[in-house]
Amino acid sequence: MEGKTGIKLAPSILSADFARLGEQVAEATRAGADYIHVDVMDGHFVPPITIGAPVVAALRRCTDVPLDVHLMVEAPEHQIGQFADAGANIITVHVEVCRHIHRTVRAIKELGARVGVALNPGTPVEALGEILSSVDLVLVMTVNPGFGGQAFIDSTLDKIARLRAELDARGLTAELSVDGGINSDVAPRVVKAGARVLVAGAAIFNSGETVEAALGRIRSSLRQAHAL
Ligand code: DX5
Ligand code: ZN
Repeated sequence: MEGKTGIKLAPSILSADFARLGEQVAEATRAGADYIHVDVMDGHFVPPITIGAPVVAALRRCTDVPLDVHLMVEAPEHQIGQFADAGANIITVHVEVCRHIHRTVRAIKELGARVGVALNPGTPVEALGEILSSVDLVLVMTVNPGFGGQAFIDSTLDKIARLRAELDARGLTAELSVDGGINSDVAPRVVKAGARVLVAGAAIFNSGETVEAALGRIRSSLRQAHAL
């Protein structure tokens, strides 16, 4: 395993081999993954249906790495309890589907999980204004949610930078995470813009190399770019 860079890497299991999910998560754990990112899709907020709470509970038994559960679901307030019970450490909800975001954020905390809020590419940073000081993580979608392996959207760099500036100006410590199209070419650019957690699916589980090598490639790109 290569040394840490100060930037957290969160392999997204969406691109893992689901027939050997436990092994793949164990590989990511051995390779020093900081979070295991779990993409939950309901077939409504986004077209696919993916993973439910029983899978999260099974993963909980495979790793001690924090499980970063990204809920791409309508009405997430009805789902958060089962994911907290399953062992999710971070539960992230989309602001676009939370009519009572303040209540949902508080409910996640009361369940004992860390709370994240996610923004689609078309949702402005300003949508978070009143809630930013209450969350542990902000997930900036750098593709439109729903599918792995899409191309990074360049215009999100400016959004990441604006969010970084707002967090810093207000002295807030929420983690700034980015999700979608992240690979060793894009990683230094998003870190330079202000991201501190990088979610990556295809670049880690679908790269034609081992999970360890793929994580190492992203870490090296950050070192080479001095984007530590
Ligand atoms: C997309 C998901 C992502 C996805 C990222 O809707 O939220 O977490 O797995 O996959 P890549 O890194 O392949 O774009
Ligand atoms: Zn995700």
